[in-house]
Amino acid sequence: MHYFKYHNSELYAEDVPVKKIVEKAGTPVYIYSEKTLLRHLQSYQQAFDGYPSTICFALKANSNLAVLRLLAKNGCGADVVSGGELYLAKKAGMPSNKIVYAGVGKTDEEIAAALKARILMFNVESPDELKAIDRVAGQLKTKAPIALRVNPDIDPKTHPYISTGLKKSKFGIPIEHALEYYRLARRLDNVEVLGIHKHIGSQITAIKPFVDALKRVIELAHNLKEQGIEIRNLDIGGGLGIPYRDEAPPLPEDLSRAVLPLLEEGGFNLILEPGRSIAGNAGIFVTKVLYLKKNTDKEFVIVDGGMNDLLRPSLYDAFHDVKPVKKNSRKKALSDIVGPICESGDFIAKERMINRVHQGDLLALMSAGAYGFTMSSNYNSRPRAAEVLVKGSDFYIVKERETYKDLIRGTSLPKHLKR
Ligand code: LLP
Repeated sequence: MHYFKYHNSELYAEDVPVKKIVEKAGTPVYIYSEKTLLRHLQSYQQAFDGYPSTICFALKANSNLAVLRLLAKNGCGADVVSGGELYLAKKAGMPSNKIVYAGVGKTDEEIAAALKARILMFNVESPDELKAIDRVAGQLKTKAPIALRVNPDIDPKTHPYISTGLKKSKFGIPIEHALEYYRLARRLDNVEVLGIHKHIGSQITAIKPFVDALKRVIELAHNLKEQGIEIRNLDIGGGLGIPYRDEAPPLPEDLSRAVLPLLEEGGFNLILEPGRSIAGNAGIFVTKVLYLKKNTDKEFVIVDGGMNDLLRPSLYDAFHDVKPVKKNSRKKALSDIVGPICESGDFIAKERMINRVHQGDLLALMSAGAYGFTMSSNYNSRPRAAEVLVKGSDFYIVKERETYKDLIRGTSLPKHLKR
C-alpha cells in the first residue's frame, strides 16, 4: 500500500501533485511519502507488538537523513553495514541500543566507532572478524556485544545477486560450524555473546524460507544453551518482498503469524531488519522525457534519469512500473525507456506497452524508495538527483541535487599540473 495515486489524471504524492514538486525540485528526482513510510513501519510494530522485539531499518535501502529521522522518531532502530551508515544512524537520532552492525568487511576503525557508540551488537561474519573485534575491544578496554551471523543454507528463491543464505554465499558462517565458532567466541576475553543473526536474502515472496531458516536457527540456540551459551537476541534479518509488478509477498503480520509460535519457549528479544518492505513502495523516481527515437521496430524513450540514478534495472533486470505523471489517452507503443549514459545496459524499463510519450512528459518509476538513491553514482559525471519528502500537502527538498562543484569536491591538482 502506498500514497502515490491519480486524481483527475494527475499523479499525486499524498496530497501534492508530482508536477508541482518537479517545478520546484527539477528532474530526475526521488520522492518519498511520509505516510507510506510510517504505515509500513507501523505494520511491523503492530505485527510484533506483544513480543519483545526491535525493528532495525536496513539503511542500505534508503539512507536519506530525513527518512531516517522520521523512522527514528517513530521508534525504529538501524541495521548498519559500514562506518558511514553508523554515522548516519546516529545523526538521525537512532538510539545506540537499537543499532546492529553486519557486513563481511568491518575495518578496525569501524569496529572502534561502533564500540564507542555502544551499539546493541555486532553481527559477526567470520572467525577472523571475531578476533579483530576482540582485539579492538581489548584496546578500548571494553566488551563487544556480538552475534554470529549464521548461514542456514536455505534457498530464498529470489534473484541470485540478492540471495545470501546459501552455502556458496560469502555471508555468515555455515551453520554446521556455528557451535565451534561460538565456543571460540566464549573463550575470547573482550567479546560477550548475545545473539544469533541470520539473513537469507532479499525480495522474498514466500513465507516458507523464513520458517525453514528460523527452525534451524532455533535448533542452534537450543544446542548452544546445552553448552551453557545463552542467546538473548535473535536477529532474523530482513528480506520481505514488495509488489513491484504482480507479486503478492507476505505482509509483516503473515511473518509474525508464522514466526512467533516458533519462539514461544525461547524468551528472546527478536530483531528484524526490514529495508525494502519499509521504503520500497514509499518512493518513486521521476524523470523527464528528453527525446524520442525509432530504431528499426523499437521506440526509444530517452529520459534524463539513467543507470547512475536508478541502477536496479541494469544490474538485476529489475522491473519498476512506469506511470505517466499526467495520464493521457494516446495510442500505446512498445517502448524502451533508456537513460543518457553511454552504456547499452543503461535502461530503466524495457519493452513496455505504454501510452505514447512526448518530449517534456514526466514519467514516474514506481517502487523506487529502496535501493534507488542509495545505489546511485556519479557515473558519466552526472550530479546525483534531488530527494523530496512529502507530508500531506507539504513537501520538502531533503537533499539538494548535486552541482558540478560537487563533482570536484575533495580533488586537488599537484603542483606540476596547476594552470
Ligand atoms: N539485513 C541484512 C544483513 C542485509 O544484507 C539486507 C539486505 C537487509 C537486512 C535488508 O533486506 P531487505 O529487507 O531490504 O530485503 N540492492 C538489492 C538488494 C540488496 C539487499 C542486500 N541486503 C536490490 O536492489 O534489490
